[in-house]
Amino acid sequence: MNALVEHIKQQTAGLSPVQALQHLADTYPGGVVFSTSFGWEDQVITHMIFANNIPIKVFTLETGRLFPETYYVWNRTLEMYGKQIEAYFPDAEKVQQMVSRKGPNSFYESVDNRKECCNIRKIEPLKRALAGNQCWITGIRAEQSANRQHMADVEWDEGNKLVKFHPVYDWDLGDVKQYIRDNNVPYNTLHDRGFPSIGCAPCTRAVQPGEDFRAGRWWWEDQSKKECGLHSVDATIDEETKELRPL
Ligand code: ADX
Ligand code: SF4
Repeated sequence: MNALVEHIKQQTAGLSPVQALQHLADTYPGGVVFSTSFGWEDQVITHMIFANNIPIKVFTLETGRLFPETYYVWNRTLEMYGKQIEAYFPDAEKVQQMVSRKGPNSFYESVDNRKECCNIRKIEPLKRALAGNQCWITGIRAEQSANRQHMADVEWDEGNKLVKFHPVYDWDLGDVKQYIRDNNVPYNTLHDRGFPSIGCAPCTRAVQPGEDFRAGRWWWEDQSKKECGLHSVDATIDEETKELRPL
């Protein structure tokens, strides 16, 4: 798979993000998906896709615990571009069982509980959204965390068995803000109130100036454990049982 990644790297080198997205859509017709959390990086990419009519499916993971501001920008985006954003919900039975057994905020009690909630509300729906596709676009940027600096704009995702492409991987926050201003892109107003990174409402808070971009995510946990599993490949769906299992 390294050869495939290298090939795509070469093909997209020197292209603008829009050109690279178009190239991938041509390479994998009907097989490219973009996941949006409606954060500002994602709004930039949504604009690139929708404004240029690039045939890439856009989806979001509706965890049921998003901020009101996120629902608002979601709706504004639909109004502005008149395009479809596919919503993936968690399995109702699994949410019911977890919340009935442990209450609505079990994620504060232990890392295991938090992972259980992320698995049910995010990872399993993500696997469903990615199934059958060949390329996954995200809004990850190198600057977001030490961990993400070791990624690359084109990667092979072993857990999901597809190519991942991060079109704004090398952009800094200034580039993102500038693009939003220049193109009148709707964005989540929480970004103006100290939230550089926005996930579920109970698990995200504002950060202080100078703090790490991701310091407000799962802030009560040990730094090393602060990825929800969307982008750290440690689980896959068992083809027989359809359950998540570690890689
Ligand atoms: S997370 O792993 O901590 O939750 P982060 O918020 O940094 O991820 O976002 C990185 C990328 O993951 C986004 O650009 C987006 O592609 C994807 N992503 C995160 N949350 C969601 C979501 N709720 N729905 C769809 N995609 C998401
Ligand atoms: Fe659950 Fe918090 Fe993970 Fe959202 S971020 S899925 S509320 S643990």
